[in-house]
Amino acid sequence: MVTTQTLDELIRRSAQELAEYGIDQPLREVRLLMEAANGIEIKEQLVAPDKTLNQAQVNSFQKYLRARKNRTPYAYLTNVKEFYGREFYIKNCLIPRPETELIVDFIKENIQERFEGKCNILDLCTGSGCLGLTVLLELEKQMAIELTMTDISDQALDTCKVNVKKHCSHNSKIMILKSDLFPNRDFENPQFFDLIVANPPYIKSGDITGLAPEVAGYEPHLALDGGVEGLDFYFRIAEEIRPFLQKKQSTVLLMEHGAGQRKAIIKIFEETDLVIKERIELNDWQGHDRVLGFVLIR
Ligand SMILES: C[S@@+](CC[C@H](N)C(=O)[O-])C[C@H]1O[C@@H](n2cnc3c(N)ncnc32)[C@H](O)[C@@H]1O
Repeated sequence: MVTTQTLDELIRRSAQELAEYGIDQPLREVRLLMEAANGIEIKEQLVAPDKTLNQAQVNSFQKYLRARKNRTPYAYLTNVKEFYGREFYIKNCLIPRPETELIVDFIKENIQERFEGKCNILDLCTGSGCLGLTVLLELEKQMAIELTMTDISDQALDTCKVNVKKHCSHNSKIMILKSDLFPNRDFENPQFFDLIVANPPYIKSGDITGLAPEVAGYEPHLALDGGVEGLDFYFRIAEEIRPFLQKKQSTVLLMEHGAGQRKAIIKIFEETDLVIKERIELNDWQGHDRVLGFVLIR
């Protein structure tokens, strides 16, 4: 089939189709798909609406459009998502969210001075590695960083390894471990951390199917499912963290959580015998509670 339609006609017709499939901001989405499918940047689309596409370009665009109608998230089509100004490779892992950047901002603004020239960091539930790697990349000019990243999913860890190669130098001290939450104890060579960050799964199991089709249908449920109340991982972190706390000084723990979960998580931690020196609470731009942290001493 040979097409004679212009770029603008194709874009407008496709936006109409996406709207019929219930997709928000259909025109913007279509322009992004055109850019991803054929490398025609949005500004070029805007200044050359009468451009005609060859059949290969139309086919490539239609493939992306079909996937988007089926609610495949844009980041899984392009295998890229921006996080804190850097592009992360994304495949078989959670798509990084802007809320998680709150943790990086906080670390940069507030606790850099707590660590005297060095920081041993643990990123639990690392997924694409966006959180741990960003903290490393933001702090490594000021101090010596060691970073351990854990996840239970082999597929997520494969993606994380790609991101390590993409963003880090050979000199970076990074360990990527497959583990069920905390790393297995190495009794001969125990690790103690100055900073522990985590964005664990925190959606209530029963709520997952009701999420947006892009999330429920495509993002790994392993990355979403926080158990019946969405709190399973916070119980586990509270119970299992002690052996990983620094011996002489304090350890800072920062965890993302779902809006409305803060009070319950505070209770979980207060019911342990952990010594809480300070509590950190961060809200997102809409005022929702999103990050909870503790400064802990052994
Ligand atoms: C919400 S995602 C966070 C990913 C990434 N840190 C981010 O912020 O985009 C949670 C991650 O936890 C991992 N996960 C689930 N259960 C786990 C477990 N028992 N131990 C370690 N990681 C787990 C999932 O594979 C997923 O990558």
